[in-house]
Amino acid sequence: MKHPGCWKMLTVAMCVALLGCLQAQELRGHVSVILLGATGDLARKYLWRGLFQLYLDEAGKDYSFSFHGAALTSTKQGQAFIAKVLESLSCPEDVAPDRCSELKGQFQRLSAYRHLATREDYMALSKDIEAQVQRGGLREAGRIFYFSVPPFAYADIARNINSSCRPGPGAWLRVVLEKPFGHDHLSAQQLATELGGFFREEEMYRVDHYLGKQAVAQILPFRDQNRKALDGLWSRHHVERVEIIMKETVDAEGRTSFYEEYGVIRDVLQNHLTEVLTLVAMELPHNISSSESVLQHKLRAFRALRGLQKGSAVLGQYQAYSEQVRREQQKPDSFHSLTPTFAGVLVHMDNLRWEGVPFILMSGKALDERVGYARILFRNQAYCVQNDEHWVADQSRCLPRQIVFYIGHGELGSPAVLVSRNLFRPSLPPESWKELGARPGLRLFGRPLSDFYAYSPVREQDAYSVLISHIFHGRKDSFVTTENLLASWGFWTPLLDGLAHEVPRLYPGGAENGHLLDFEFGGARLCFSQQQPEQLVPGPGPAPMPSGFQVLKARYRESPLISAWPEELIAKLADDIEATAVRAVRRFGAFHLALSGGSSPVPLFQQLATRHYGFPWAHTHLWLVDERCVPLWDPESNFQHLQTHLLQHIRVPYYNIHPMPVHLRQRLCAEEDQGAQTYASEISALVANSSFDLVLLGMGADGHTASLFPQSPSGLDGEQLVVLTESPSRPFQRMSLSLPLINRARKVAVLVMGRVKREITVLVSRVGHEPKKWPISGVLPTSGQLVWYMDYEAFLG
Ligand code: BG6
Repeated sequence: MKHPGCWKMLTVAMCVALLGCLQAQELRGHVSVILLGATGDLARKYLWRGLFQLYLDEAGKDYSFSFHGAALTSTKQGQAFIAKVLESLSCPEDVAPDRCSELKGQFQRLSAYRHLATREDYMALSKDIEAQVQRGGLREAGRIFYFSVPPFAYADIARNINSSCRPGPGAWLRVVLEKPFGHDHLSAQQLATELGGFFREEEMYRVDHYLGKQAVAQILPFRDQNRKALDGLWSRHHVERVEIIMKETVDAEGRTSFYEEYGVIRDVLQNHLTEVLTLVAMELPHNISSSESVLQHKLRAFRALRGLQKGSAVLGQYQAYSEQVRREQQKPDSFHSLTPTFAGVLVHMDNLRWEGVPFILMSGKALDERVGYARILFRNQAYCVQNDEHWVADQSRCLPRQIVFYIGHGELGSPAVLVSRNLFRPSLPPESWKELGARPGLRLFGRPLSDFYAYSPVREQDAYSVLISHIFHGRKDSFVTTENLLASWGFWTPLLDGLAHEVPRLYPGGAENGHLLDFEFGGARLCFSQQQPEQLVPGPGPAPMPSGFQVLKARYRESPLISAWPEELIAKLADDIEATAVRAVRRFGAFHLALSGGSSPVPLFQQLATRHYGFPWAHTHLWLVDERCVPLWDPESNFQHLQTHLLQHIRVPYYNIHPMPVHLRQRLCAEEDQGAQTYASEISALVANSSFDLVLLGMGADGHTASLFPQSPSGLDGEQLVVLTESPSRPFQRMSLSLPLINRARKVAVLVMGRVKREITVLVSRVGHEPKKWPISGVLPTSGQLVWYMDYEAFLG
């Protein structure tokens, strides 16, 4: 050997490196859990138990642990509190008592209280953890900070952790956050931005404890393991409806200061029920163990949710609630809360799988029972000739067919997955789900338990224990990401805004509610099944029923005027439009209808969509009276409005729909693109004599009609059929039919609704033909008919 010295050195170096590697591998990982708010209610009820369960599951495996209970209480009080909570922890049935008490002793020794308030406290904690790791010859694996504190405390704590208590390189940080995550879209965004300044997205675990409920956590695995059977069933072709329900018997006493700010929609529907909804409705990823893929699919489900209208919800409040608020918050006797403690909401999804399927979300306090479930009810497409006495549960196609993820409580008393026997025998993981034994006499959803294949968890686990284990294992799919959170608030906030001043129906609470809260849906609207017996909350006085009034016929600006309460007026207008359509189709083979945007026609569209089955849509051409210069998919677009409220509910051939070409060559209403001329040519080509059968107009409070505005010269006279105009309000650029084109119509209907129109109605009744000042005054069909439709508020004030 030429250089024996070199070989020796090399060998030594390799040995040292190998030893280093071995040592690094052998060092046991250490995990520190810091429970902030360790003396609070949630910690006492669930979190310490969850941490103990984590220790029972993981002790002796790859990691060592320390548990730091932190709060602002004095050390002495905190220690005493924690000692008491730890002492009270009971052993689960599936752990042998000896082993459990040994592990409990260890858990008690590993848990300590510490006062954590200032930045220095956090620095000291970090130092202590490092020292402990070193002393034990360990390697730091990670730190979990569980925020069981009110949201106002988040920012300070987050700042302190970020600046002074992050683990060193190679170890992870996980912060666990509890709802409420904001109050609406804006506040949630602000909170998310604030937290995003301290933590990376992958470090944040936002808890929705419903994702830890066993039946909820089983939704995706169930869909995955039963793909074959469900593939043909899980869609609008077979599902009649989906119910996602959380009923409670408790009320809000003791937490009205929280509840007053949130109410049931923010407290339960926006989070728990929405999470369940997405799990049921989302497309199933190929690999459900990929958190990333699950979260992306969930996000897509959010995008398919159809926007909610005020009419999509019914609200209630248990009768004692206002009194509880007055008492707990020292409010005067005159105080009445509008906070809903009960809500039913009808949700639709606009995608090919679920279009038309109603998803009913409902939750309430002070109801007759405590129960939660997601129930998928399938259509019954069979007819059974034999008498129902001969129907057999697993064979009859006529018995109800349903799959229920039974979250808990209720008659059954435990979580379960139920599948009607006439559907298929499901497959569930036998190590964690077992078949339920017979329970004679027990009926669920109107059927004996024996009608179902019924499974319950082998080991019942509390949601927080499940989630704490998922946090430890870094399973992010059981948590709410920032994107999903904002998507959910984006969905709920418009409804919450719309309902802010709505008076909820009062209910007595418990079994006495009777059928007072039952609700039903028609189209996109939800309403209570029973009329409100009396006005229980002092309001503006009992409103007269529209049916109590006659439709009033008179004249306005020398043309016929029809006036009524809104509901009757809309019904009359819809009838008149249908009659005109039927006549036009009979005479000319087609009906050309030009519709305005804005909010007044919305109820008309809804009426036409839900009540007019004889409407000759197949021969109707739909045109736009005017359009905002925004893309057609923009919520501000008149076409989008039409799409939401009418088109998607009716069957009009695509080639009969004529949106205005405001978006050409990737730009909006550019003169050079000649969009107005293109529309005019289309009209000339398809509408005989460019004479619409019916033009529906509105009247703005400034006297504008279509998108023809006072003091804006274009479109009031001349040859042009379609013009670009300027609106005084956003979006400024518009496209509009011109007055000369409108006046060529066979019939023009002007719909005017609401008290805000009262002044202009009076003014316009007195003026002559002055389209420059009041474009509406220029509406006078050359040979056609003009009819005014005004509700009483617009006409009589
Ligand atoms: C909480 C709500 O998130 O969930 C409470 O804030 C509600 O109002 C509770 O009572 C219901 O949870 P569980 O686990 O009892 O169904």
